[in-house]
Amino acid sequence: MVATPARTLSPPSDDKRWRQVEVRMRRLGHRPDGLIEVLHTVQELFGFLDDSALAFVSQSLSVPPSKVYGVATFYSHFMLKPQGEHTCVVCTGTACYINGAGALLAKLKERLGLEAGGTTADGKLSLLQARCLGACSMAPAVVVDGEVHGRVTPSSIAVLVEAL
Ligand code: FES
Repeated sequence: MVATPARTLSPPSDDKRWRQVEVRMRRLGHRPDGLIEVLHTVQELFGFLDDSALAFVSQSLSVPPSKVYGVATFYSHFMLKPQGEHTCVVCTGTACYINGAGALLAKLKERLGLEAGGTTADGKLSLLQARCLGACSMAPAVVVDGEVHGRVTPSSIAVLVEAL
């Protein structure tokens, strides 16, 4: 039997969230039938699927780009661009949940009237939630415009989003 060569594809950037995506793909054995699940993971972590993300997933799973685009555009759940000008991803994975992620979401709802998955009426901010951002030692963690913030409190998240 011939061993499968190790994958040496580079993710679109050095953003740590790509490691989470790579772990997911590895767990799925880089199988083409893991496409929807991997796209879900990318969207959960980044909030949307851009061209570089779709190309990376296509190459990593050996799925033709046309099929990846086809799936990404067929399901209304997938977004090909950020909804708001800024994105804030609140992690609600176990470590973050135990350490107060719920209070962060409650604070954002109180301050902005925003639920996870929503965008402010002025289009400035989209709020997303993820199951684990790979920063559990800094729980609760949030990612604002691609920058990871750890040990976030309700008052610090209010300052973070108001600065936007
Ligand atoms: S559970 Fe939140 S970063 Fe892992």
